[in-house]
Amino acid sequence: MTDPQARSRSDALVFFVNGKKIIERNADPETTLLSYLRRKLGLTGTKLGCAEGGCGACTVMLSRYQTHTQQLVHHAVNACLTPICALHLVAVTTVEGIGSVARKLHPVQERIAKAHGSQCGFCTPGIVMSMYALLRNNPTPKMGDVEEAFHGNLCRCTGYRPILEGYKTFTVEGGCCGGRGLENGCCQANGNGVEKDLEEHIDETPSLFNPAEFAPFDPTQEVIFPPELLSLTKRQRPASLCFFGDRTVWLQPDSLEEFLQLKWEHPEARVVVGNTEVGIEVKFKNMEYPVILSPAFIVEMNTITQTEDGISFGAACTLSRMGDVLKQAVKTLPPHQIEVFLAVLEQLRWFAGLQIRNVAAVGGNIMTASPISDLNPVFMATGCKLTLMDKDGSRVVQMDDTFFTGYRKTVVRPREVMVSIEIPYSKKGQFVSAFKQSPRREDDISIVTAGMSVTFSPGTDVVDNLRLSYGGMAAVTAMAKMTANRLLGRRWGEELLQEACSTLAEEMTLDPSAPGGMVTYRRTLTLSFFYKFYLMVLQKLRKQGVNVEKVGSECLSAAEIYNPEMPSSVQIYQAVQDIQGQDDSVGRPMMHVSALKQATGEAVYCDDVPLYENELYLALIISNKAHAKILSIDTSEAEGMPGFVCCLLADDVPGCNSTGAIEYDETVLAQGQVTCVGHIIGAVVADTQLHAQRAAKAVKIQYEELQPVVTIQEAIAAQSFFKPMRIIQKGDLEAGFKQADHILEGEMHIGGQEHFYLETNITLAVPRGEDGEIELFVSTQSASKTQLLVAKALGIPANRVVVRVKRMGGGFGGKESRSTILSTVAAVAANKLKRPVRCMLDRDEDMLITGGRHPFYGKYKVGFLNSGKVVALDVTYYANAGNSKDLSLSVLERSLFHMENSYHVPNIRGQGFLCRTNLPSNTAFRGFGGPQGMLVAENWITDVAQSLGKPANEVRRLNLYAEGDLTHYNMKLEQLTLDRCWDECLSRSGYHERQAAIDLYNRQNRWTKRGIAITPTMFGISFTAAFLNQAGALVHIYTDGSVLLTHGGTEMGQGLHTKMIQVASRVLGIPCSNIHISETSTNTVPNTSPTAASASSDMNGAAVKNACEILVKRLEPYKNKNPKGTWKEWVNAAYFDRVSLSANGFYKTPDLNYDFESHTGRPFNYFSYGVGCSEVEIDCLTGAHKNLSTTIVMDVGHSLNPAIDIGQVEGAFMQGVGLFTLEELHYSPKGVLLTRGPGSYKIPAFGDIPKHLTVSLLRDAPNQKAIYASKAVGEPPLFLAASIFHAIKDAISAARAESGLSGPFRLDSPASAERIRNACNDRFTKLCPPAEPGSFTPWSVQV
Ligand SMILES: Cc1cc2nc3c(=O)[nH]c(=O)nc-3n(C[C@H](O)[C@H](O)[C@H](O)COP(=O)(O)OP(=O)(O)OC[C@H]3O[C@@H](n4cnc5c(N)ncnc54)[C@H](O)[C@@H]3O)c2cc1C
Ligand code: FES
Ligand code: FES
Repeated sequence: MTDPQARSRSDALVFFVNGKKIIERNADPETTLLSYLRRKLGLTGTKLGCAEGGCGACTVMLSRYQTHTQQLVHHAVNACLTPICALHLVAVTTVEGIGSVARKLHPVQERIAKAHGSQCGFCTPGIVMSMYALLRNNPTPKMGDVEEAFHGNLCRCTGYRPILEGYKTFTVEGGCCGGRGLENGCCQANGNGVEKDLEEHIDETPSLFNPAEFAPFDPTQEVIFPPELLSLTKRQRPASLCFFGDRTVWLQPDSLEEFLQLKWEHPEARVVVGNTEVGIEVKFKNMEYPVILSPAFIVEMNTITQTEDGISFGAACTLSRMGDVLKQAVKTLPPHQIEVFLAVLEQLRWFAGLQIRNVAAVGGNIMTASPISDLNPVFMATGCKLTLMDKDGSRVVQMDDTFFTGYRKTVVRPREVMVSIEIPYSKKGQFVSAFKQSPRREDDISIVTAGMSVTFSPGTDVVDNLRLSYGGMAAVTAMAKMTANRLLGRRWGEELLQEACSTLAEEMTLDPSAPGGMVTYRRTLTLSFFYKFYLMVLQKLRKQGVNVEKVGSECLSAAEIYNPEMPSSVQIYQAVQDIQGQDDSVGRPMMHVSALKQATGEAVYCDDVPLYENELYLALIISNKAHAKILSIDTSEAEGMPGFVCCLLADDVPGCNSTGAIEYDETVLAQGQVTCVGHIIGAVVADTQLHAQRAAKAVKIQYEELQPVVTIQEAIAAQSFFKPMRIIQKGDLEAGFKQADHILEGEMHIGGQEHFYLETNITLAVPRGEDGEIELFVSTQSASKTQLLVAKALGIPANRVVVRVKRMGGGFGGKESRSTILSTVAAVAANKLKRPVRCMLDRDEDMLITGGRHPFYGKYKVGFLNSGKVVALDVTYYANAGNSKDLSLSVLERSLFHMENSYHVPNIRGQGFLCRTNLPSNTAFRGFGGPQGMLVAENWITDVAQSLGKPANEVRRLNLYAEGDLTHYNMKLEQLTLDRCWDECLSRSGYHERQAAIDLYNRQNRWTKRGIAITPTMFGISFTAAFLNQAGALVHIYTDGSVLLTHGGTEMGQGLHTKMIQVASRVLGIPCSNIHISETSTNTVPNTSPTAASASSDMNGAAVKNACEILVKRLEPYKNKNPKGTWKEWVNAAYFDRVSLSANGFYKTPDLNYDFESHTGRPFNYFSYGVGCSEVEIDCLTGAHKNLSTTIVMDVGHSLNPAIDIGQVEGAFMQGVGLFTLEELHYSPKGVLLTRGPGSYKIPAFGDIPKHLTVSLLRDAPNQKAIYASKAVGEPPLFLAASIFHAIKDAISAARAESGLSGPFRLDSPASAERIRNACNDRFTKLCPPAEPGSFTPWSVQV
């Protein structure tokens, strides 16, 4: 630790935040800008979502004056990775600095809110700041610039479309002048300026927002760079800086000489520029770096010069700067010189997000020596030269196969630094390409990456020089030297291709247990990339007049570089009738009531509650074994650590240590044994987060390991099931199969899913000091459940516990029951210490501990007639429940209720088993088992169509439920709108025309294929546990006429509070602006059900209506007495007449009584229906796919708020896209979750939305069973993303047909790039056969 005396020698760090000068004399190099803003400056608008640069929630803008160019530069950066020490003489702008609701909104804030681009709002400040930084640099951006600006931002709620739509108004394409050009055909004079396709539908529906309401954007009015900072920067010559922290010293010398001297003295020192690598190592890998050297002032390391052979970049140049310079060079240099630059630019296009590229240095990428670096393969293939220096001199080394000496090791000596890299011009006859394949295209690390360069003897196709470099195929970036050597002197033709592929397959091998897994896929990619390179070079040679074979037109698409198209969209809904009063907002697209505050950072989330004076922080001690006895727990080292206050173990739980959502089959703190990695064993409480986390890591636990059960298959083998199992059956299965013309069997696995709410779980527990009272601020969907479990753990009555929920930064089911595992521990700590205790889980902890969607394995036997009519189905589901029951039984039950999806099967049996495994307990997640149940259904219906050779849409349509049918659990279908949704979707999507175009496309293209699928959904609405279908509300009217509304539901972004205000406004007959919802709390509305099952608007809406109607009734006499009076006058008259102006409302959903034993009664109140049709294109060589188009028709009854409902449809759909195509949780065979953050777990990003997205809310479909004829919408649309999954399957079928394969095949979910590629059996996959299962231990297993 740095001694205090040294700390007093620290220089003063001077920077500006939102125009205010900050002089920090105690700058700790380990403090990030994010924690400084939030904790020290109280600027909580900037959010923490991941701490690893992967979500963008922490985006701020940095501005500095560059003396050498005399320019102001603005950059969006991730505050979570920015060390404050890197901010000397920098101006920081946060979301608070650009506008506020109280002061004035910035157009960037206003437009995202009014375009409905903010739901939970946790990502919103980061998105606002990315857009703001873009506009500061380019006030007239193109849509492509906007998309690029968002490469580093994630949103889990909105589905992105509304964000792009709102911000399109700033762009050249969708530009809105804010009314300044009214005479010149301004959009505001012509209605919505947002471009739409499918023009014919526009007149059906008004726009969801009106750009005419937007304040004009005037770039000249932006916050100015602080004049004092400008003069400071201009005046001051850089002088060496030194900052001493607790464990680290930051040295920022002012000359290369001094820099080299310091590196000589501290060979172990890290050179930090962007901190995007070092920051991650310190935060997540427990690395400690006592000395940090910053080259910010070293001219030689920041300079870019043109040399005779290429362009030399100082090693500290950022990737953004490098990209700008290369782009400029490409514009000016002759084509033969720019091949290398183009390849580097191609890699930069998909390198991280802009926030990372704005700070990460080229030297950092090389010196990190990651085997999956994207730039190193290109640098190696093209022989870039590095200048290395130490205090005694310099040397130049070429990046070739000798440069990387081992995993994360290079030839650079510890006392040397890299000063610059020279990227060469290409030569005549040289062709260069770069390739990258990652799970997600945007902001993702590579699975395999490659750089390839070939030089031909002048004017010929004879290979003179060939360098093939691959990342992701070894512990280092590796060169395929054997292959390259064999091809020297050969002609560029089919023979060479064959030789190349077989040699590459031999040379680029991987151990079947290799870290990262996907071994067959990775090997195939090396061939696929080479084939693409081969085609590209053939084309270029031919263009130059060299006599080579012509690339067949069917292969051209394989050689195309991916260029994203700008998305377009249409939203269709039924406008309210003209006779509806203007003040009645029900049915109108009213903005989310918190949207503006969310966009300005003023909305308060749990961790934004200011620190209490004596507050402590808690860090969890968790198991790193999946199944083990605890032999001993040694806390002695932790106890001696700075800031330590106490340690909590099972014996410290004063009440009952058993806990659980329904059954108490879990522990608050582990007792004697652990049953999953992430099992909470104890906690450390300390003065700060850092101290608590460090001390928790110092607790030593000895285990005796027991055999874990990790996968469903292992659970089946061990018969490890929770009881009961469930069966639903109807008809006569045997007779059904006898009647069938065909019988097919199949199986599939559906992977789990991480909720990835942007705000992780958090609890702040505050003891109230008397009678054992305790107050908890929690991000939870279940205030009452939290209250009960906390009371149980503390051994106190529930009436001493108040749980308060203002809003959540997303929930999606993940905070329905699992949030309590943190809340109970925090409450125990606060209760013990009698001090407030806070804990917000880090992203990796949250992912590790709190479980997610259940992985499912389904197997089926289906009997059907020649017509395609399904007559018998026997299906069995196995769900991986994890180590406790939690809500799993209800999840399983729902999968069985949805096992037919929307198809009528007369003879049917469904069985369900809950696998007890040593994984963290899986839990509720939007759809609650329904999507898994339905995906298996979509699989057998596809199999039926494929085996009969009939169009899948016809077989689906043939089997669809009809009005009056009884489901397999004997519920009569009334007011069924499936057929209407189907027909509308079929026609809006232009299904038949698309199908014809796809058939043609597939005939014309060998290596890219298109596919289409139309998929229905029928989702039962209600909690399947009948008692949960109740809700309460409490409405107070104050004498000034304002109304405080409270109800049992929580706000997690879904717009529940907005809808409830709309309901109350209609009943009370007052404007929404008179009604306020402050929070959800257990002391206002008791015994609430979790906000879940999509039914919250139905139930709470009815309770709110009930309460408001009581009040209206009480006010009626005063209204009658004074019919011309105002609301306030009636309220006052009632008050003076001593009438209560407060009322409770209550609602219970009628007639819900399903009994699993007798299979009688109704499990659901009604159904939400929808149909989705999607078209995709797959790259058969890489497995990448593009979502070309999706059309959704959704029946939401009479929408309470079409903007919110369309937001739910799109958000759920995109979450489904993640579930079925992208998101993969990897577990080791020992049950350790390997994917624990946005770096390794990919949720859909901006680029994943379908290029054409149409969402239509079915017209004229009132629902008699819910409030104001509306319908539930939160979960049902998620499943429509199965249309993408099956469109992919359709495209794969077309690819397989090229290899002579036809009929049903197994494709597990998600349809990842790996699975798509492996399923497209072809000549390349044949060269890379998988290793024999069982002959090796895989890196990850399918759980
Ligand atoms: C969210 C995220 C996304 C990413 N995406 C990608 C991606 O798509 N592709 C990819 O390849 N990488 C990616 N990375 C990795 C990372 O961004 C790069 O490796 C980056 O270029 C590192 O630069 P830096 O300046 O931030 O490094 P720093 O963290 O500042 O330093 C990294 C290391 O390099 C050493 N070093 C730096 N400069 C020198 C020098 N001049 N001489 C000697 N040693 C030096 C340091 O000592 C340190 O060990 C990603 C990282 C994050 C956090
Ligand atoms: S919190 Fe910084 S990028 Fe996620
Ligand atoms: S609104 Fe984007 S994460 Fe919730």
